[in-house]
Amino acid sequence: MCGIIGYVGRELCIPKIIHGLQSLEYRGYDSAGIAYISKGKIKTIKEKGKIINLEKLLNFDEEAYLGIGHTRWATHGVANKINAHPHSVGKFTIVHNGIIENYNELKEELINKGYNFKSETDTEIACAKIDEIYKQEKDILKTLSKATKVFRGSYALGIICIDEPNSLYAIRNTSPLIVAKSNEGNFIASDVPAILKFTNKYFLLDDLEIAKITMDKVTFYNQDLIPIDKNINTFEGSVEVALKNGYEHFMLKEINEQDKVFKDTINYYFDGTIDSLKKNFKFLDKYKKIDIVACGSAYHTGCVGKYLIENYGNIPVNVEVASEYRYKKCFYDKDTLVIVVSQSGETADTLAALKKAKNDKIDTLAIVNVIGSSIARIADKVIYIKAGCEIAVATTKAYLAQLAIFSLISIYLGYKSKEIKDEELYKIFKEIKQMPKLIKNTINNYESYFAIADKIYKNKQIFFIGRGIDYATSLEASLKLKEISYINSVAYQAGELKHGTISLIEKNTPVIAIATDKNLFEKTISNIKEVKARGAYVILISNEVIKEQLCDEFIKIDDVHPILESILTIIPLQLLAYKVAKNNKCDIDKPRNLAKSVTVE
Ligand code: AGP
Repeated sequence: MCGIIGYVGRELCIPKIIHGLQSLEYRGYDSAGIAYISKGKIKTIKEKGKIINLEKLLNFDEEAYLGIGHTRWATHGVANKINAHPHSVGKFTIVHNGIIENYNELKEELINKGYNFKSETDTEIACAKIDEIYKQEKDILKTLSKATKVFRGSYALGIICIDEPNSLYAIRNTSPLIVAKSNEGNFIASDVPAILKFTNKYFLLDDLEIAKITMDKVTFYNQDLIPIDKNINTFEGSVEVALKNGYEHFMLKEINEQDKVFKDTINYYFDGTIDSLKKNFKFLDKYKKIDIVACGSAYHTGCVGKYLIENYGNIPVNVEVASEYRYKKCFYDKDTLVIVVSQSGETADTLAALKKAKNDKIDTLAIVNVIGSSIARIADKVIYIKAGCEIAVATTKAYLAQLAIFSLISIYLGYKSKEIKDEELYKIFKEIKQMPKLIKNTINNYESYFAIADKIYKNKQIFFIGRGIDYATSLEASLKLKEISYINSVAYQAGELKHGTISLIEKNTPVIAIATDKNLFEKTISNIKEVKARGAYVILISNEVIKEQLCDEFIKIDDVHPILESILTIIPLQLLAYKVAKNNKCDIDKPRNLAKSVTVE
């Protein structure tokens, strides 16, 4: 979504702000802008399109030591220069990430008070409201305190006022914002990568809190202007995290981190004994039903989790897309656990679904990557995956880490339900120890997946089929391909093909079949024969050794326990999607129209 950066300090602000915006590009955007105080005036420069278009308009040596910058992912109003941030009204200039939901109401009120608006954005209205309150309060902190009581919806605001040329202010509700300290001055930013070049020390601004930042001091207040102390965080990853470590794309770098991510995530909750699983997952004992709610790839982890928890935990699991769940009638009760899954911890629909469950007094668990994110802070319990900062818009390592958590949950529940007996349990434990090596080996076979990608990348449509847990994996495989290569692809339950879709199969139509579930293997093989008979080009991924000439391409993955198998199965499919997209010269890390974190409905 939108990216915010602000700086006040001893050094020129323009270079720092532009660097910060460049580090936030992964969030997806369609315009960019900067505002800074120079010679007692606020100067605002903004432009449609990429940051490079903005840079051409700037003098990087201009004497300015306080400023704010913004990359906009359009929500209200088209992507153009007028709607780009920062927005100014009266003495104030602001940048905003989120949606002010009562902007229409505020707009009417402000127009009646003589304000008029140039842009179509809710942000300009928010700025006008702040200006209007300031005219009464004549104090910025009191103004912002009142603003947090007036605004409804999600916002992270960076604010400057010409009456205080040495202070930068910030307020937030729901949308993420950090405040960072360095020796040369202090920052606000939407996310850590924006400031990593300058510092790795930062504070998390909580909902309805206000921050006042000067070059030497950072002060936090609650909504009623009571000063609050905050713990400082240190980002463990170094700048390399935000760089590509020699890989051509963040996505490829992050795929190659998956063995470490698996190990870091598993080891945080599992020390090789069932006691560690009891310690971390015993809280699950009381639930008789589970709703898993998420969006996109996170939803797909829930689809895998459903099969595992039902098969081993004997607990009914309902998996829903958050944008539906938040509005639908839910049949949950005190015996239900609602699990929300989110890499960013900021996805608006998932956050809304979580808040709905909370409002209905239903217990909630969040499986999240970003520490201190909104979802993490609201859920009753949080299980953090240890995927580190994921930059590529198309998730890979976070998806795999989420699967690892569902594996641990299912192992614990399987042991408790006695579906998994001691002998099987120790076999699984042994395989868990092997998994990082098996993951790495699977990744290292990338050339064979790339060779297949080189044969199919020109196709306009590609099908994925699978049964049971392999169908869940095919959903994620299809999304990976779609979102980075722009090729239309569909994931289908293999048994469903004959009920309509098979009419789309022509000669050489690529069909990627996933068959790892031994109980369903023969059935999937017969579906492969159906599409082969109609001329399909079949790529089969399986943990079985294939004896007869069943397919055109075969990807063998290691045969591990079903509770772990999906973690290996997805890897060739991630790499296949990557190479297809690369061959099609797509913007792999920042696919068109997409954002890393969808913080609006
Ligand atoms: C995944 O590759 C996509 N970028 C997208 O579907 C993503 O999984 C979805 O938007 C959910 O994001 P979250 O995990 O941060 O909530």
